[in-house]
Amino acid sequence: MKFFIDTANIEQIKEANDLGILDGVTTNPTLMAKEGIKGHDAIMAHYKTICEIVDGPVSAEVFGTKFEDIVEEGKKLALIHPNIVVKVPMIKDGIKAIKWFTDNGIKTNCTLVFSAGQAILAAKAGATFVSPFLGRIDDSSWDGIQLIEQIVNIYNVQGYMTEVLAASIRTPLHIVRCAEAGADICTCPLPSILGLLKHPLTDLGLQQFLNDAKTMQ
Ligand code: G3P
Repeated sequence: MKFFIDTANIEQIKEANDLGILDGVTTNPTLMAKEGIKGHDAIMAHYKTICEIVDGPVSAEVFGTKFEDIVEEGKKLALIHPNIVVKVPMIKDGIKAIKWFTDNGIKTNCTLVFSAGQAILAAKAGATFVSPFLGRIDDSSWDGIQLIEQIVNIYNVQGYMTEVLAASIRTPLHIVRCAEAGADICTCPLPSILGLLKHPLTDLGLQQFLNDAKTMQ
């Protein structure tokens, strides 16, 4: 399973990248706005900066909801860097635009996916990635992991090439469950990635080893 970081924060992207386990980045308008980025040029420059840090797919989301607007925006985003993936919402015009991008060699990430039916449509349109929002499904007292399992199974049975990018990750356990479910990618906030490191027995064991090492010096 590949690891993407789900943020537009440059420091956090650098920190995850320095670990050597980062395969890509996902952003969305909420995450970009959180960094105080304003205006077309600043947005484009920010994506370029991210692409220069991480050697892997970087999802940049369109703001438009009409086919023509999505295509125009996506074409401009794709010109920023070869690693840019145009992130498109799961709506009728979005599916049409994903098909257009697929036919024109532009990579896409179909976002805001909450059902297997939506994931089938995204794959039929040729999306490079599909983003089921696991945490938001859990928030509404449904089982997000069940959806990941269902989409992974359908894609395997049907031989779809679209990669399952589990999004809206909230905890290290979500990451473990996504790995079990066969997700191709997990896009996670930095604390969830770092949370995977934690175990009290590791800390206790290390302390003991360090104490014993001192007695031998
Ligand atoms: O980028 C999409 C997704 O990961 C959002 O996560 O935590 O806002 O549900 P969240």
